[in-house]
Amino acid sequence: MKKFSIVIAGGGSTFTPGIVMMMLDNIDRFPIRTLKLYDNDGDRQAILGDALEILLKEQAPEIEFSYTTDPETAFTDVDFCMAHIRVGKYAMREQDEKIPLKYGVVGQETCGPGGIAYGMRSIGGMLEIIDHMEKYSPDCWMLNYSNPASIVAEACRVMRPTAKVLNICDMPVGTLRRMSQIIEKDPKDLEVRYFGLNHFGWWTSVKDKEGHEYLPQIREYVAENGYLTKVEVDTQHMDQSWQETHKKAKDLLAVNPRYLPNTYLKYYLFPDYEVAHSNCTYSRANEVMDGREKTVFTAAKKIVEQGTAKISGFTIDSHASFIVDLARAIAFNTHERMLMIVENNGAIANFDDDAMVEVPCIVGSDGPEPLTQGKIPAFEKALMHQQLIVEKLVVEAYITGSYQTLWQALTLSKTIPSAGVAKEILDELIVANKGFWPELN
Ligand code: NAD
Ligand code: G6P
Ligand code: MN
Repeated sequence: MKKFSIVIAGGGSTFTPGIVMMMLDNIDRFPIRTLKLYDNDGDRQAILGDALEILLKEQAPEIEFSYTTDPETAFTDVDFCMAHIRVGKYAMREQDEKIPLKYGVVGQETCGPGGIAYGMRSIGGMLEIIDHMEKYSPDCWMLNYSNPASIVAEACRVMRPTAKVLNICDMPVGTLRRMSQIIEKDPKDLEVRYFGLNHFGWWTSVKDKEGHEYLPQIREYVAENGYLTKVEVDTQHMDQSWQETHKKAKDLLAVNPRYLPNTYLKYYLFPDYEVAHSNCTYSRANEVMDGREKTVFTAAKKIVEQGTAKISGFTIDSHASFIVDLARAIAFNTHERMLMIVENNGAIANFDDDAMVEVPCIVGSDGPEPLTQGKIPAFEKALMHQQLIVEKLVVEAYITGSYQTLWQALTLSKTIPSAGVAKEILDELIVANKGFWPELN
């Protein structure tokens, strides 16, 4: 079998070790010849890089491993770039969350003003790594899960329309695993129908391969418990605040019992509740810095100290195996059915052609082919359209540098009560994001 050369962009990410472990676990399905890490923060990446070097020497010495901050070294001779960068890192995520909360508005990584601010930072970083990839390995595919994925995907559609970038999210994967537990099935045996934008969608069908529909059974469970399941099914999304999120799906379903909701809809349907239950001095960014980031970097330092990964190591991020499924779909033309963020072009019949939507696709060597989801009802369509224009305005504001356009984007967000509040938040975000955003005028 062919062996692949991979670069992980955002090598210093808290997810890097778990994903490397997951790839080792899948090495028979997806053989690797070279693995490189690339990051623009050399010190952060080196902590993980040094630990992974020791671990790989012990567990997979045949893989040529290195880490670098040099784009040419990183992007030369690679087949796949797995991208999970966070422009501004957790320090800026903290600002994205805390600034809106001061004004009584949802403070969230990818939703509302926080997501808009993050989008304005991410676009430049993403274009930069796409350009490196196209320059040094023009045949390479980028599997991108850097956030905010909707805004990043729209920016790619407009500014890099021919780039081989596939945008994907793990939330539907994680939630389907929960659903599969509710009905006691293997998630691999389930086929779904789904429509939406990223972090903004609904399942309209969950069937097994024989065609049995499980939606009513899952709905009954979710109406009582949300997506909270008894057994741990996910290596991610396990902290107390995530448990609250899974539980809240119960209230999302009550608003719209027709379909099964993506958990992220809570920020749009219950923003007041979310604000009331947020801590404006200790947000999710703080939880992650004190939780996942500490755990992962402490584990890395321990491996380096001990000079071996045999005594303690990293945890396999098994839920991330969809990344290998996607890479295999491209590499081996497997025609795997997966949810992807793609240009609509009729997949949702009564929605804008040029919207980046999240729908099931058949993925093969030429990329994703969206499956048609038919017409969607007025309620979901109206919500989606409002959010779609927010995302489009953000990309437009990035390109034109227009303050007015970005103000409109914030004003249109369902999470913000008025143009006045939008302006106050925007003005504070501009100051906080100096050096990360293009100059606005
Ligand atoms: P992190 O801050 O730990 O890691 C991100 C890394 O990216 C950092 O080491 C940082 O230095 C690096 N970076 C920033 N800008 C860069 C640039 N221009 N070029 C190269 N490297 C750059 O963050 P994390 O919590 O591990 O998350 C990483 C990313 O993955 C985030 O964007 C997060 O939102 C995303 N994510 C997405 C999904 C999904 O469903 N799509 C799931 C999980 C995480
Ligand atoms: C889910 C979403 C990601 C998001 C992550 C945040 O996995 O799909 O897009 O980045 O949650 O998780 P965190 O633990 O960093 O709050
Ligand atoms: Mn996501």
